Amino acid sequence: MCGIVGYIGPREAYPILVQGLKRLEYRGYDSSGVALYNGRLDVFRKVGKVSALEALADAERPHGTLGIGHTRWATHGEPSDRNAHPHTSNSGRLVIVHNGIIENYAQLKALLANKGYSFSSDTDTEVLVNFIEYIQNEEKVNLQQAVRLALNEVVGAYAIVVMSTDEPDQMVVGRLGSPLVLGLGDNEFFVGSDATPFIDSTKKVIYLEDGEMAVVQRSGVVVRKIANDMPVDNVIHQLQIDLAAIEKGGFDHFMIKEIFEQPKSILDTVRGRLNFKTGEVKMAGLDAISDKLLNAQRIIVIGCGTSWHAGLVGEYLIEDLARVPVEVEYGSEFRYRNPIIGPNDVVIAVSQSGETADTLAAIKMAKANGATVFGICNVVGSSIARETHAGAYTHAGPEIGVASTKAFTAQVTVFTLLAMWLGQHKGVMSAERSAELARELEAIPAKIESMLKLDGQIREIAKTMVDATNALFLGRGYNFPVALEGALKLKEISYIHAEGYPAAEMKHGPIALIDEHMPVVVIAPFGELYEKLVSNVQEVKARKGRIYAITGENSDAIAAVSDELIAIPSTDEALSPLLTTVPLQLLSYHVAVLRGCNVDQPRNLAKSVTVE
Ligand code: AGP
Repeated sequence: MCGIVGYIGPREAYPILVQGLKRLEYRGYDSSGVALYNGRLDVFRKVGKVSALEALADAERPHGTLGIGHTRWATHGEPSDRNAHPHTSNSGRLVIVHNGIIENYAQLKALLANKGYSFSSDTDTEVLVNFIEYIQNEEKVNLQQAVRLALNEVVGAYAIVVMSTDEPDQMVVGRLGSPLVLGLGDNEFFVGSDATPFIDSTKKVIYLEDGEMAVVQRSGVVVRKIANDMPVDNVIHQLQIDLAAIEKGGFDHFMIKEIFEQPKSILDTVRGRLNFKTGEVKMAGLDAISDKLLNAQRIIVIGCGTSWHAGLVGEYLIEDLARVPVEVEYGSEFRYRNPIIGPNDVVIAVSQSGETADTLAAIKMAKANGATVFGICNVVGSSIARETHAGAYTHAGPEIGVASTKAFTAQVTVFTLLAMWLGQHKGVMSAERSAELARELEAIPAKIESMLKLDGQIREIAKTMVDATNALFLGRGYNFPVALEGALKLKEISYIHAEGYPAAEMKHGPIALIDEHMPVVVIAPFGELYEKLVSNVQEVKARKGRIYAITGENSDAIAAVSDELIAIPSTDEALSPLLTTVPLQLLSYHVAVLRGCNVDQPRNLAKSVTVE
């Protein structure tokens, strides 16, 4: 996610843009920039937080009553001055800010390069602004038409604001898949990724819908359809919420907001990497180390906490789909146990923050022993991302809540794609199996949307767990790591002691803990192990344990013995963690809220553990 802001009106734009960008920093903050028109185009861009941009620009005393700004969460191209937005076209006439991912940017870049265009950044955004310029030159049309024609050729997600020195009294905006809000002030108009930049100036807004664009001038706003240029008569909303609420998207906490973002974050993580029809996976990071990967005798996954749990799901996926041996290691253990590792090994390092000290140190040790290291990170340009030989980013957007939620499911999504890629390239995964998984993966976001509707039911169930002092989470196969993750979620934000266990392992000790005071969460989706899980649930019931079942719709056997039941949609066994995790996230969230805990910043915890 990036933050976009625009202003046109009688006031100086620069202070409005900077304040707006500071309010949007929760959407991403690895670099930022502004462009102002005052007879000429002044562009200021700086890596780092908005304060670094201010330090650069203030001295120049930027002025102009038309301007755009951007705070970046990198998806293409490292965080740097040259990759920061706004980006200008080759002629310098056009300038753009963009939030989203242009999937066909490589093809557009090749076309433009053949026409003599050059590029000074690694971003898909710079390609887009030059493509708009190219269209304008070829079609001899005004800015609005050039933007419209260009967007009809673009594949991907975008929210953009474009200015031109040839038409200096307007901003042209457009959106598909990324949010854009227009603020209607008194004789002044605003653009924002959300209303935070301008809510203290106006609460009258138009929410642009997907496939809509607008020309924002000093006289007002005209909205049109990108596809056919037809005018649109949008509803004008009067906002009732305050600044703090908007940063959380109207949710009470970042954690719940990020749980609800998972349909989008999973789609964004898959976007451009999977052919939904054939199941073919294309990931440049894997191609870069394909020889090492295809000849690896084993794969070692390294991570901490939730990332370690994602790695455990990755082990099941890679061994199941690609038949390659996998070991999963805690970074803190791997680096000190004098492991056997060498040039034939491939290490996959998993980290949301990309800054976890134990994982980073383990990577350096693996590299020192000749291993090839692939990173799965959520922060572009993070230390781990820069330390690894290759990698794939989870496009989950900034994860603010300390308890990891959308990053986990995005990591599991990358592992799914990686396992499919490996199975396909090793010739052990059939075309039918690839297509079947792709179809199911495409349906996952909608299935998560349907489960998010259970939030109210889960909040009620959470009330029965509020006074627990211990809890057990049981799962089998692909859902054993989910049991571990569910236990971690509960304990780290509600401070209830919780343990995850393989369901069949319970009789080797933990069953001694079971009594009527012990909540036992059983993750039992339909699949090969369902019948065995029914037996495990009955073992718990026989000892008066309180059963909280996460299971398929109409699963009578488990419903008959459960105290609480959350019915979830079915999916392929290999993809079930993407679904079963969501109710566990919601359950732990509501228990913690009911216990009055600080959900976004739990005691003793940091979002990124950059020390040993
Ligand atoms: C998960 O909810 C915790 N916040 C924690 O276990 C976290 O997963 C761990 O510290 C690893 O962080 P990373 O993914 O940024 O490396």
